[in-house]
Amino acid sequence: MNYLQHKKIVLGVCGSIAAYKAAFLTRLLIKHQAEVRVIMTRSAAEFITPLTFSTLSRNEVYTDFTNGAHAWHSHVEMGLWADAMVIAPASANTIAKMAQAVCDNLLLATYLSARCPVFFAPAMDLDMWKHKAVRRNIELLHSYGNILIPVEDGELASGLSGEGRMAEPEHIIQHLQEYFRI
Ligand SMILES: Cc1cc2nc3c(=O)[nH]c(=O)nc-3n(C[C@H](O)[C@H](O)[C@H](O)COP(=O)(O)O)c2cc1C
Repeated sequence: MNYLQHKKIVLGVCGSIAAYKAAFLTRLLIKHQAEVRVIMTRSAAEFITPLTFSTLSRNEVYTDFTNGAHAWHSHVEMGLWADAMVIAPASANTIAKMAQAVCDNLLLATYLSARCPVFFAPAMDLDMWKHKAVRRNIELLHSYGNILIPVEDGELASGLSGEGRMAEPEHIIQHLQEYFRI
């Protein structure tokens, strides 16, 4: 059973090498007949182009710097439109801002306006992932009701190996399917 059919998903993409995996995730969401709107941070757009996401999502991509005032007004609308917001990859920077209600880009404004469940899939190097400050921010996000999609163990972009890899897109889909199944 496909529980993602016709679900409206806002996908937030942060600056990380794992941003390319968000392209695969977009493709899988579309394959599952979800509607996808992508919001990228300024940093994310240095890793992967908005054009990739607009092509894969078949929708306009929102970045805080390309869409101007129009996009800033749409954060409330997108927060209300979505059945779920998925932030993948979630950077340490954005996680810290989410934990403290910082609102200095469109992704964060949408997060703070969202009434839907918010999933976040961190991507980090292993020592960053273990850092007490990051752990504390993750706990804060959990306490606000946000849903952590756990990192995975394996080879990291730094060449090190350990925990911190963003969950594979297929696993993120499984988390969403499980959520919408209930
Ligand atoms: C090559 C490279 C890879 C990076 N990968 C990560 C990462 O996987 N996770 C992370 O938290 N930050 C990573 N960073 C740092 C973020 O890109 C940086 O903190 C940025 O400000 C995040 O902005 P954003 O949260 O607004 O997207 C990386 C930086 C570079 C240059």
